[in-house]
Amino acid sequence: MLITFEGIDGAGKSTQVTMLKKRLQESGREVLTLREPGGTAVAEQIRELLLESKHEITPVGELLLFAASRAELVQKVIRPALDKGSDVILDRFFDSTTAYQGYGRGLNLELLAEVNRIATFGLCPDITFYLDITPEDSLMRKFSEKSLPLAFDSEELDRMESSGLEFYRRVREGYHLIGSGQPDRIVMIDAMKTPAEIHQLIVRSLENTICDSGKNSS
Ligand code: TYD
Repeated sequence: MLITFEGIDGAGKSTQVTMLKKRLQESGREVLTLREPGGTAVAEQIRELLLESKHEITPVGELLLFAASRAELVQKVIRPALDKGSDVILDRFFDSTTAYQGYGRGLNLELLAEVNRIATFGLCPDITFYLDITPEDSLMRKFSEKSLPLAFDSEELDRMESSGLEFYRRVREGYHLIGSGQPDRIVMIDAMKTPAEIHQLIVRSLENTICDSGKNSS
């Protein structure tokens, strides 16, 4: 099974990825966790370019760099793991591109869909958990964790995070549109619930998905 997590920065995805991995492993499943961009030697270098570089990158350049990292990861790591029967939990996948480069940066959504199709080789998640948080709450979480004053021009933020509040509002709105367009695949969860509550919701949705796919194959 391919399970993906989505949401704006600071929504608590990585906590949920860790909790879900443990849960699935305890039930005897083989689980691989990954995050985008990155995950192969080349993709990690692309990640550095995208997040750490202080150079300006054009929106199309940014789109193609995320896509290049994804193509590497899908072909070299995700596809082989799924073929071996492992579950793969992925922190961000093509919905991030639609939300950030499409709704956030304003790139053409049809062009994006085509780039996403090429970069994923047509691979689609079995289920996606979208953790919903406002940009204000996400920023507050990030800075309060580090006991720092809240600021969008802080040195603490990476290249994407420095894109500003308006950008993050568009990204969040984009996620809402993506989610409401694909309710069968995307489970929308309020990220302000406690980690334990969110985990319970995720486990319940997964049990339903596994039951449904069992029914379909019988
Ligand atoms: P990361 O440090 O992994 O943050 P997070 O914990 O929020 O996932 O940074 C990844 C950043 O890249 C994040 O700001 C979202 C952005 N991104 C895109 O803009 N497009 C994409 O296709 C992907 C995968 C990520």
